[in-house]
Amino acid sequence: MAPTSKAIAGRSRPRFPPERNLVKPLALLAALLLLANPCAHAEQRFVPRPANGLALTPPMGWNSWNRFGCDIDEAKIRREADAMVSSGMRDAGYAYVVIDDCWQVSRDPSGNIVADAARFPSGIKALADYVHSRGLRFGIYSDVGDKTCQGRPGSRGHEFQDALQYAAWGVDYLKIDWCNAESLEARAAYETVSDALRASGRPIVLSICEWGTNKPWQWAASVGGNLWRTTPDIYDGFAGRKHNNEWLSVTDILDLQVGLEGFAGPGHWNDPDMLEVGNGGMTDDQYRAHFSLWAMLAAPLMAGNDLATMNAATRAILTNREVIAVDQDPLGIEGHRAAKEDEAEVWVRPLAGGSNAVVLLNRGSRARAIRLERSVLGLPDYVPLELRDLWSGRVVRSASGAISFDVPATAAVMLRATPSRPGGS
Ligand code: GLA
Repeated sequence: MAPTSKAIAGRSRPRFPPERNLVKPLALLAALLLLANPCAHAEQRFVPRPANGLALTPPMGWNSWNRFGCDIDEAKIRREADAMVSSGMRDAGYAYVVIDDCWQVSRDPSGNIVADAARFPSGIKALADYVHSRGLRFGIYSDVGDKTCQGRPGSRGHEFQDALQYAAWGVDYLKIDWCNAESLEARAAYETVSDALRASGRPIVLSICEWGTNKPWQWAASVGGNLWRTTPDIYDGFAGRKHNNEWLSVTDILDLQVGLEGFAGPGHWNDPDMLEVGNGGMTDDQYRAHFSLWAMLAAPLMAGNDLATMNAATRAILTNREVIAVDQDPLGIEGHRAAKEDEAEVWVRPLAGGSNAVVLLNRGSRARAIRLERSVLGLPDYVPLELRDLWSGRVVRSASGAISFDVPATAAVMLRATPSRPGGS
């Protein structure tokens, strides 16, 4: 705007006659400040984006990547949407059906993104309509770079065009990746996507998939992100890393969440990656631990298995309503690691109504007892507690002092601990 540029021009006019050859004290001070804090100038460019009002509890749904990778087509996605309904998952709170990478093949001469016509012959709009007709919401994937992680066209330079296309298709959720984005400044890149989604006029959840590379927990919420990945990709295992440390197990990811809990809250969540429950690489005990811990972390619960063929044990894990209620607790306070001794850990999450969710995690290869001290719940020793095991349904009452639970090897016990009146029921 003219007045601004004038003011700037005015400010930059020399205040001291050049012939005096004096160093301008203000310019020197500014240069020194910039040297002391080289980021100060860059920081000023960013203006917080308004929250979109979505994802007031962590999003729940299904995503194609963990189980199917690039092997996706419209029949498969419809089948998963059907299974989400028939399995009871929709009624348990799962809402989004998200197609991950590989649905897109090119851009048309006008720059519009083109879906793979061989795999999605009815088109993306028809698929979104089908998903909506099942009482579910529809999500899609892209990348802030020129290309996605699988070499498909990314959104760079087409952010607003793509957002308008998504809105026209009826997209409710965008997962947007960080491959081939080396030259980009992460915050600015995701800001553009956020602005584009807002300009589309359709409420679309923004799922930032930046793998934690640039500490997105520090900026993703102010950019308008509803969730942000905190780590590289998960794989279907309980402990250890794979593939040059690019794939992390459940417990490796868990360790990286410690200290991030203060950044999450209603509308903006840490995302420790999608679920592997039911994909076959872990025991049911380990999958229960995975699901329990993700609920403690207020993590988005995006199932990543084949819902159409899952067995009863997997279904029971994914639809455990009491564990889901912890994940979806309206306070939105992420749980934290409250105690750790060798391979035993105690995780605590304060819930609405005065209860706490507790996970006793045994990472070791032998069963062991794990003690729960009232102090980690912020309670004095004499407060009686009702402890409900959220997997077995068993209720234990404890009058005072610490209480121990037996936890099998590589497994977790999950409890809801509620203070009760002395002698009361
Ligand atoms: C990255 C993401 C994954 C998945 C793949 C798709 O690795 O982190 O979640 O979306 O890309 O190519």
